[in-house]
Amino acid sequence: MLGVCYYPEHWDEARWTADARRMVELGISYVRIGEFAWSRLEPSRENFAFDWLDRAMDVLAAAGLKIVLGTPTATPPKWLVDECPDIVPYDQEGRQRGFGSRRHYTFSSQTWWRESARIVEIIAKRYGRHPGLVGWQTDNEYGCHDTTLSWGPEDLKSFKRWLRLRYQSTDQLNEAWGAVFWSMELQSFDDVRLPNLTVTEANPATRLDFWRFHSDQIAAYDKMQCDIIRKHSPARWITHNFMGFVSDFDHFKVADNLDLASWDSYPIGFVEKFPFSEEERARWAETSHPDIAAYHHDLYRAVGKGRFWVMEQQPGPVNWAPWNPIPKPGMVRLWTWEAVAHGAEVVSYFRWRQAPFAQEQMHAGLNLPGRDELSPGGLEVKQVGEERAVLETLPSSDQASVALVFDYQSYWSTMIQPHGQDFRYEELCFRWYEALRRLGLNIDFVRPGASLKAYSLIVVPCMTEVCDVFAATLEEADGVVLVGPRTGSRDRHFCIPDNLPPGPLAEITGNRVVQVASLRPNLQKRVDGQVSGAAVRWVEQIETSSAVLARFEDGHPALTEKENVLYLACWPDTDLLAGVMSFAAKKAGVETRPLPDFIRLRRRGDLTFAFNYGTETWPLPEGVTPLLGERRLAPQSLAVWRE
Ligand code: GAL
Repeated sequence: MLGVCYYPEHWDEARWTADARRMVELGISYVRIGEFAWSRLEPSRENFAFDWLDRAMDVLAAAGLKIVLGTPTATPPKWLVDECPDIVPYDQEGRQRGFGSRRHYTFSSQTWWRESARIVEIIAKRYGRHPGLVGWQTDNEYGCHDTTLSWGPEDLKSFKRWLRLRYQSTDQLNEAWGAVFWSMELQSFDDVRLPNLTVTEANPATRLDFWRFHSDQIAAYDKMQCDIIRKHSPARWITHNFMGFVSDFDHFKVADNLDLASWDSYPIGFVEKFPFSEEERARWAETSHPDIAAYHHDLYRAVGKGRFWVMEQQPGPVNWAPWNPIPKPGMVRLWTWEAVAHGAEVVSYFRWRQAPFAQEQMHAGLNLPGRDELSPGGLEVKQVGEERAVLETLPSSDQASVALVFDYQSYWSTMIQPHGQDFRYEELCFRWYEALRRLGLNIDFVRPGASLKAYSLIVVPCMTEVCDVFAATLEEADGVVLVGPRTGSRDRHFCIPDNLPPGPLAEITGNRVVQVASLRPNLQKRVDGQVSGAAVRWVEQIETSSAVLARFEDGHPALTEKENVLYLACWPDTDLLAGVMSFAAKKAGVETRPLPDFIRLRRRGDLTFAFNYGTETWPLPEGVTPLLGERRLAPQSLAVWRE
């Protein structure tokens, strides 16, 4: 259940054996290595130095550790960048992003594909059957440091190729992009330009295609690595370590090639990254917000088709957020158990030992900088290692009653055309998720197009393009469906549908959106009826043939109901959202257990886990005997019991 990220190349070889022994003593069974080691594996072209990795793998395996090997493509070495300057990415301002940190490559470069295939094949051949090797990680964190999109000459070349395949003729391209507008029509595919450095806004359909193109490239690039690995490394699984709050590419598509998903969990760092209010940031600064880790566990369980790991777990303060507090005592343990509660197969900490050198010297590890001495986080891991026996056999995570449909393209579309600058897709999803979790519910994320049949309640916070397959799954759904704003507001070419939004959902919602408004921060519209609160950020004026359950202050419908389908025509504030979720859950017959804002529950089979992110104790429900933890749940602690 526990793992750790280790960099043998950072430490004197004399320390490896003791490191491996101490890992095992701590209860660690998996070790991830190698993902940044290219310059040590191939110091210059075709001059390989595998001896050290051979020995490191042998030492780790001899200690009984199971090895996950990373392909080293996140860090192309200097000689390669010098030799092949066409691999470097460009930022949106058209500037080169060069050597000196990591991820200095663009997915568009054919040279880069060739070089990646070469190094992956060499490594897969050499280590693919190593007895200690159980799995692979491709690359490291696609998209990290804003590297999904690149804006250079290689990107233009590949984009043109992609467009030719997609549209066949410039007539079709011009039609799809509405290029007659502002005389943007193109006579040949050679006329295509990247949608940056324009005088004002570039065409949104072009931008969406540019985003789709990059997303497709990542999936294809990852598949290329997977195919090579599978050829030379039978019976080993492959994963990729995805990130928190990064939706720049379609993770579902990348994971189609993987055996399981994994993600890198830095709950406190993400408090700074997510657009929380200052008050919320201060409140959750040292524990993280109680839904941040959980939201991603549930998302990546879906991405991994039921299987996921936490590949990197924050073990103490990190170095990369604007402010980096120490997690309150107990949090490293709590996050570990929480991942398990959500179905993680393994929780692996980043990293074994804090590096006293280079960029991440202020990033905690399980051991103090350069030393063989557990850090405070390391001591908590020791405790988890000792506690594991209590839950030796874990029931599998059964299907939740609530589905949240998550759609990467809606993130891109609303970034491209926010209309109101605080309409943020991920934030909307997160707030809907939070409101459901405050009701004590388990939630499954669902990929658009996947069956929704077995769910009692299905929420769709926003889905800009409703494709036929998704519309069909909604029509087949027996559960209650709650549809949010901007759903069906664009067709596949980023046009407003002929029948007006929600386009393909007009029939099942009974609605037609006639006008929309984005609201600046101090503007809101009161909503009253069977639910009440306020609309903030976004309001839709709809015509409806459905029952109106609540209205805006000007009398327009805010929440409508047609049979099992509810439509919410705004971005709700906290009160309205809570009311809508309770209403929807009740209509769906889903049993709720309202919780204080610092407590979360998660059921896994017949086990219930409770987590306390707050500052007060919380009494467990009457009659419960915890297998782990106390009846009075202290701050930063957890309890598990059998229902
Ligand atoms: C992750 C990355 C690691 C390390 C870590 C620091 O994003 O995969 O290599 O940089 O962050 O928190």
